[in-house]
Amino acid sequence: MKKYGVNELRRMFLEFFESKGHLAMKSFSLVPHNDNSLLLINSGMAPLKPYFTGQEIPPRRRVTTCQKCIRTGDIENVGKTARHGTFFEMLGNFSFGDYFKDEAIHWSWEFLTETVGLDPDRLYPSIYQDDDEAFNIWNKEIGIAPERIFRFGKEDNFWEHGAGPCGPCSEIYYDRGEKYGCGKPGCTVGCDCDRYMEVWNNVFSQFNNDGHGNYTDLIQKNIDTGMGLERLACVMQGVDNLFLVDTIQNIMKHISQITGVEYGKNEKSDVSLRVITDHIRSTTFMIGDGVLPSNEGKGYVLRRLLRRAARHGRLLGYNEPFLYKVCDTVIKENLTAYPELKEKQEFITKVIKVEEESFAKTIDQGFKMLNGIMDSEDVKVLSGEDAFKLNDTYGFPIDLTKEILSEKGIKVDVERFRELMKEQKKRSRDARKNAGADAWISDTTDLSDVANTEFVGYTDLKSTSKVLAIVKDGVRVDSIGEGENAIIVLDKTPFYGEGGGQVGDTGVMESGSFSADVDNTTKNPSGTIYL
Ligand code: ALA
Repeated sequence: MKKYGVNELRRMFLEFFESKGHLAMKSFSLVPHNDNSLLLINSGMAPLKPYFTGQEIPPRRRVTTCQKCIRTGDIENVGKTARHGTFFEMLGNFSFGDYFKDEAIHWSWEFLTETVGLDPDRLYPSIYQDDDEAFNIWNKEIGIAPERIFRFGKEDNFWEHGAGPCGPCSEIYYDRGEKYGCGKPGCTVGCDCDRYMEVWNNVFSQFNNDGHGNYTDLIQKNIDTGMGLERLACVMQGVDNLFLVDTIQNIMKHISQITGVEYGKNEKSDVSLRVITDHIRSTTFMIGDGVLPSNEGKGYVLRRLLRRAARHGRLLGYNEPFLYKVCDTVIKENLTAYPELKEKQEFITKVIKVEEESFAKTIDQGFKMLNGIMDSEDVKVLSGEDAFKLNDTYGFPIDLTKEILSEKGIKVDVERFRELMKEQKKRSRDARKNAGADAWISDTTDLSDVANTEFVGYTDLKSTSKVLAIVKDGVRVDSIGEGENAIIVLDKTPFYGEGGGQVGDTGVMESGSFSADVDNTTKNPSGTIYL
């Protein structure tokens, strides 16, 4: 078996399906477009949903992609085990009302056994329990013996992810050999252990789930397939887990080189190395797709990943910001498929560095507080107030606090924490009102001479700008005094204005001896940004 690299396998897959009449499309952004059911793209088919449902006409009825995906359902397990990761690439071939089960099954077998050369005796298909059509294709056309074809129920062989197109599926498992097995009697395809690894999923996408478990027939029969690129690379390269495949190993090596900690020497530091390796991959790609750290939605996921990785840097005994350096290797290893990362390198580096530096200011105090709690015998539940303080003052996202304390069996009063967060939001909303935000959008505030603000935040996190207008209590003023609230309009700014599900930025404005805290940023429909 040839040890193909990640970049080679990606290319081979896309070329194989191009040779079968597919249009190879670039990966879509990780940020979903017109899809409220998802925070981030989590499978190859997710950005293609309108083509499956017939809502939109695809550029061709056969498409192939290698899609960036993020799944954050089990962040806590990432690092602890070697199988979990938040970022992965999914190879897929899709038919929108064109070919169906027959071609899909034949081509998956051809790619695995001929193109990349996996041993057919190690491959086992599974099918949905009563899908005799798929059974016959595997058995009669491909020639797999009946006892090697596994029938599973809805849990395993019906693919769906929330709302959208879905259907029964047929997976292909690879037997990695006895050394990966649990050794239990009856260990076979479907066992929880690491021996039989699912490499390919052929979904026969025929239904639409409305998100509440109601299924209707789609107007056409489709094919949605998925194969984790990293998983395939594991199999081809004969390595244990995704952290050991070529491109990902190079990222980990960079982390080892900076921190001086090698992989494979100690289980605890291995956890940290895996966390950092995975999280720097996902965060580099998220920022590349325009997500910025914030306290809500995607921005919160990004912040949580970056801060979780930063914490593990500390656990490795490294106390300086360093993630921003590692992103260079992520970009380098992925250049062939994602050349746009190079153009955004400076921006990505800056965003990570700013986030690391701001967390670095408070991380030690936060750790001190957390360690005090963990050392105390009496605390079984952390109060909502303390969780709030850790979040608000020390920058520990609630999920990170929960995860750290769970290591000592301590729970967190999340309900009270959420109440306090709500109160805080209300306080800052009221403060904005007092500062005249409501009056600002009334007709009494004349802003006719103020041009729309240029937003420079995609390339810069700082800018030197001109003040175009100051508004206090709905009225234009020339100046404001110490301790007063006002809204300021600049000619250009890196502050992102609340909108499109993204919270407004916060920060500082300074000039000589003047300094003001920006506690929120909003914008009007024509693009004037209010600080
Ligand atoms: N959409 C299917 C999956 O993600 C192919 O497994």
